[in-house]
Order: sequence, then structure tokens, then C-alpha cells
Amino acid sequence: MAEWQKTGWRSKPRVQMPDYTDADALARVEAKLAGYPPLVFAGEARRLKAELGKAARGEAFLLQGGDCAESFADFKADSIRDTFKVMLQMAIVLTYGAKVPVIKVGRMAGQFAKPRSAPVEVKDGVELPSYRGDIINELDFTPEARIPNPKKMLQAYTQAAATLNLLRAFSTGGFADVHHVHSWTLGFTDREEAQKYRDMAGRIQDTLDFIGAAGMTAETTHELGTVDFYTSHEALLLEYEEALTRVDSTSGKWVAGSGHMIWIGDRTRQPDGAHIEFARGVQNPIGMKCGPSTSVDDLKRNMATLNPENEPGRLTLIARFGAGTVGEHLPRLIRAVEEEGASVVWSCDPMHGNTIKSSSGYKTRPFDSVLREVQEFFAVHSAEGTIPGGVHFEMTGQDVTECTGGVRAVTDEDLSDRYHTACDPRLNASQSLELAFLVAEALSARRSAPAKVAAG
Ligand code: PEP
Ligand code: CO
Repeated sequence: MAEWQKTGWRSKPRVQMPDYTDADALARVEAKLAGYPPLVFAGEARRLKAELGKAARGEAFLLQGGDCAESFADFKADSIRDTFKVMLQMAIVLTYGAKVPVIKVGRMAGQFAKPRSAPVEVKDGVELPSYRGDIINELDFTPEARIPNPKKMLQAYTQAAATLNLLRAFSTGGFADVHHVHSWTLGFTDREEAQKYRDMAGRIQDTLDFIGAAGMTAETTHELGTVDFYTSHEALLLEYEEALTRVDSTSGKWVAGSGHMIWIGDRTRQPDGAHIEFARGVQNPIGMKCGPSTSVDDLKRNMATLNPENEPGRLTLIARFGAGTVGEHLPRLIRAVEEEGASVVWSCDPMHGNTIKSSSGYKTRPFDSVLREVQEFFAVHSAEGTIPGGVHFEMTGQDVTECTGGVRAVTDEDLSDRYHTACDPRLNASQSLELAFLVAEALSARRSAPAKVAAG
């Protein structure tokens, strides 16, 4: 394979990227970004890769979640804190169930560019280019708002930097100290899953009291007082990604400085395309979405391109098929991975195959479908004797009404109450926690019934 260059993607076919009309303005933004500090550092990406290597072996579990699209207008400390908090709660629940470390990766601090199913949007007979995320154009339905503007990359960078700054402070500044497990309960006091969470927090508190009495406290045991929290986004806008790509002075290799983990979407994983070309040369952990149209042949080619050394933790395959169809698609892909002897983390995205239009006209996802896809994912891995290594959710710490269902059932009619997403519908805090309990149950059932050992 030809030697990699960070500009190499430019000579490959690209899809889902904007055509900037002002080449000079674009070049000025790229030059500026290329001079800015990277947002993440090579050592952090390496550490995440090592942890994901454990998830590939079933010794850790990946929890990846956050907004479908971060937005400039909704940029607030409170929403970052609340999403971070829900992820900590979910991680505690999962750790308790799976009895393995949970790797926490936010869809945060860079999740600004969106692939779209159609290049144009038609409203009342008016046709405009689609909205592609705040890093590219604007949601307003006017011709001016939909023109791609390269300067938005600078605002995205600034927002990502400020988000990461806050996340780093939350991770190590005392907020994430496991002794605060009780105080992570958000506002929900009267709900069934909140009670379940409090019971679990009570048991964790007992354990902490015991080990505290035995001399282990947050002061003496660093792990109890801090968490590792990583960032991720879809590497869609390659001008932005290239400008933030730097050489790691320790290894001399290239690293994407835009986030710890980047992923390739289901619409941009063409084996000869620009996105795979970019991703193959950076050392970060790479995710790749696998939807119903993923062929065994393409998967094998992409695995060979993205992870030629078969490095554990390098590649996470994010399955997103839709409830009721996992059994049709996942087994052939699992077998392709096994045939190649490839090490991958299998993660389940139960969101993107389950989007429907509700009777009230909103784009939504029924909680039952989300849950069913997760269950099917676990069942297929159990039947194949392979390892379910993680989950990938679109979620928020805010009390939104975007997905229907859950214990505190959101109905079609409720959707209009607090429907705030700029893109896909997200699980709210309560639905996220409920799902974490259900995943934890599946993981603990798996522990008590170990995966079958391959015959022969
Ligand atoms: C996403 O994760 O927001 C997304 C667009 O997913 P996919 O590429 O799987 O459709
Ligand atoms: Co989405």
C-alpha cells in the first residue's frame, strides 16, 4: 500500500463532504487550524487503544455516548456536566453488572459534522441543500444558512477545546470521585430506575466504607478519585481532521489531534474512499459503523487497510442494523472477522437502525426497539461464541422527549414537549440509565454462562 500522507485523502473519491465555494477562505482557515494546538495528545490516544484492546478480549467494556450532533447554540456547561454525569452513572451500573472496567468515551468535543441521507431538503416546495452540522452550515431553512462556511471550523475547534477543558476538570478535579456516587443522581427522585440506582449506590458506598476502613481512600488510591474520560466523533470533515493531525514526537507517527477516537460512518466507509484513506494513517483508535449494506468483502478490505498489524484496540466495529435484523447481518460479519483472525471490539449502536417518523411527525426511536437491538446483539455473540465489547448511544443528560417509551413512557404526543435535538433523537437521562441496567443484566448473565468454546 502506498505510503500515507495526511493530504492523501484528497485524491480519493469523497462523499458527504461540502463543496466550499471560496477556496481562499478555506485555505486560510486550514492554515490557522494547522497552527493551533492539538486537542488531544498521542499518549492519551495510545492509552485508550490499550484499554480497547482489553475490551476486545472481554476484559473491559466500552461505553460510548453523547449527542448525535453537538450544536453551537446549545453549548452550555450544564449540558456537558449532565451528559458526563449520566455516563458516570451508566458506567457504575455497567461495572457493577459486568465486573470489568468500563471505558468511557463521549461523543463530545468534536461531534459537529453530519452525514445526511439526502443532499437536499424540501419544505413546502422549496429545495435547499441539507444541514450538515454546525461545523459546516446552519440549521435555519434559508439559502444563506445552508451555504458551507469554512470559518465554522474555527468555532467548532474553540467549542471542542472548551468542552474538553471542562471534561478534564470533571474527570480529575473531584467531581468523578466514586465516593460521590450518591450525588450523581440527577433530578429524578421518584423514578423506578433512580431507586434501583440508589440501591446500587448504597451497596457501593458500603464497599467504600469497608475499604476506607482498611486504609484505601481517594487520597491513597488514585483510581477511586478520578476517571479516564475520552472524546470521539465521526471523522467526516477531512479538512478539519487533516489540519489537526500532528506527528507524535515520541513515536514519530501521525495522530489525529481532534479527539481520542474517531470513527467512520456507515455512509463513508467505501474501501477506496477518502475517509478510509485518512483514517488508515493516524494512530488513534478507529471506529467503523457497520450497517445492513456492509458486505463481507468490504469489511475484510477495510480491516486489512485500517489494521494491517492486527493491533488489539485499534479497530472497533459498531454494528447498527435495526431491531429484528441483527440475526440476518451480524453473524456473517462476525464470521468474516473470525476467518481473518482479526482482533476487534464489537460494539452495538442500537440507535441508527431504529429511527422512525412518529404519528405526530417527529423523527423518533422507540425505546423498545433500541433495547431489542441490544438484546439481539448479545444473543448473536452468545451463539457465535464471540465477545460483545461495548455499546454506542445517542443520549443526553437533559430531560428531553425525543425517543418514545421507557419506564416513564414518553408517548408520540409528548415528543413536542422537549424535542431539542438538531439531528437524531437522543435517549434522555432516565432512558439512558434504564438501558444501562438492562445491558448490565445481559453482561452479568453472560458472566454466569461463559461463551461457548469453539470446537476442534
Ligand atoms: C451517527 O452516529 O450519528 C451516524 C450518522 O451514524 P451512521 O453512520 O451509523 O448512520
Ligand atoms: Co445520529
